[in-house]
Amino acid sequence: MLSLTNKRILLGVTGGIAAYKCAELVRLFKQANSEVRVAMTNSAQEFITPLTLQALSGNHVFTNLVDVEAEAAMGHIELARWADLILIAPTTADFMTRIVQGKASDIVSALVLASHAPIAIAPAMNQAMWANNVTQKNLDVLNQRGITIFGPAEGEQACGEIGPGRMLEPMELIERCSDLFQKGLLAGKSLIITGGPTREAIDPVRYISNNSSGKMAFALAAEAAEADARVTLISGPVDLQTPPRVKRINVESAEEMFAKVMEFRSEMDIFIGVAAVADYRPKQVAKEKIKKIDEALNLSLIKNPDIISKIAALTKKPFTVGFAAETNSVVANGREKLHKKKLDLLFANNAIDTFNSDTITVTAIDQNSEYQLGPANKSVVARKMIELISAALEKDATENS
Ligand code: C5P
Repeated sequence: MLSLTNKRILLGVTGGIAAYKCAELVRLFKQANSEVRVAMTNSAQEFITPLTLQALSGNHVFTNLVDVEAEAAMGHIELARWADLILIAPTTADFMTRIVQGKASDIVSALVLASHAPIAIAPAMNQAMWANNVTQKNLDVLNQRGITIFGPAEGEQACGEIGPGRMLEPMELIERCSDLFQKGLLAGKSLIITGGPTREAIDPVRYISNNSSGKMAFALAAEAAEADARVTLISGPVDLQTPPRVKRINVESAEEMFAKVMEFRSEMDIFIGVAAVADYRPKQVAKEKIKKIDEALNLSLIKNPDIISKIAALTKKPFTVGFAAETNSVVANGREKLHKKKLDLLFANNAIDTFNSDTITVTAIDQNSEYQLGPANKSVVARKMIELISAALEKDATENS
């Protein structure tokens, strides 16, 4: 399995005929759920256009070291810091010399010099150039510096000669890059999390809602992304920053949250319902602001869909994890919810202690056991929750195999 999900790949393209294969390379990185940014030397642009790679990567392509517009959006130093891996493919003989000499004369060599990220090169050149003593000495230096060398392969060359010097095929490069990363606990899994409160409109300015900061859901989303899951966080209104590598979708009402969650029903491996979904909504939303004329106001409320129960009832049921914020008999009420909603795992906590707090104590409850996590920071507890979810998934997989 590839472990490229959420990884930030900076692809440097230098001027060899194999540059045309970068289109496929970028496409495969995207397919493996990596974020890809591309930088090209001038001569690379003779073989493939920046526009092609921009369209495939979905990002601006860096072609110039002194590009005022590009620097304003993301400076080259920032780009060098952004990368989890720099792959130079193809790497020409001349470019190998540039790295060895520590040049920063073009955008790609400047990025290599400015980055602390691991660097991999995929040499591609005429077989005699590869065999040349100077190139081989450069290769020794690059190896000594810890730069990873992919290939080259042997075979027929664009110039008609036969020998070592062909760039490795894009799929092979993707697999080699994947091998450079450790696989997280949830690598390859798609995870949907709901978080925050929902707001149920009474009239254009008023609503009913629940007390929820969203902190637990955001901490879980962050830890799941760290564990290499593909994370979509469907959040009610909260005042929190989206964690890195998490796709966030904002919603207001329970019905909106339900509709968004259902859009992912065929592609989720794990569902975590952390949201404090309002159980009821006003039967009718007044079109104009309701005037306070009467001494009493009667609101007629109807039940909202129970999102997590609907997910747990799907034929293709994901591993379904719920939360229960209770004010009394926390564990007993939590266990009842686990059964009633047909959940695989539930985290129960005391509602009052937890509101807007950075720390939490929860009891993890599954069919057979329960045990306490915390008291600890929500991030620490979130990491333990991810470990539990991963262990349960592994157990299910072994039992079903
Ligand atoms: O509100 P309640 O205690 O029933 O919440 C238990 C679990 O059910 C939580 O995981 C919550 O996110 C989920 N839930 C839901 N849709 C609702 C109500 C609760 O998904 N309408």
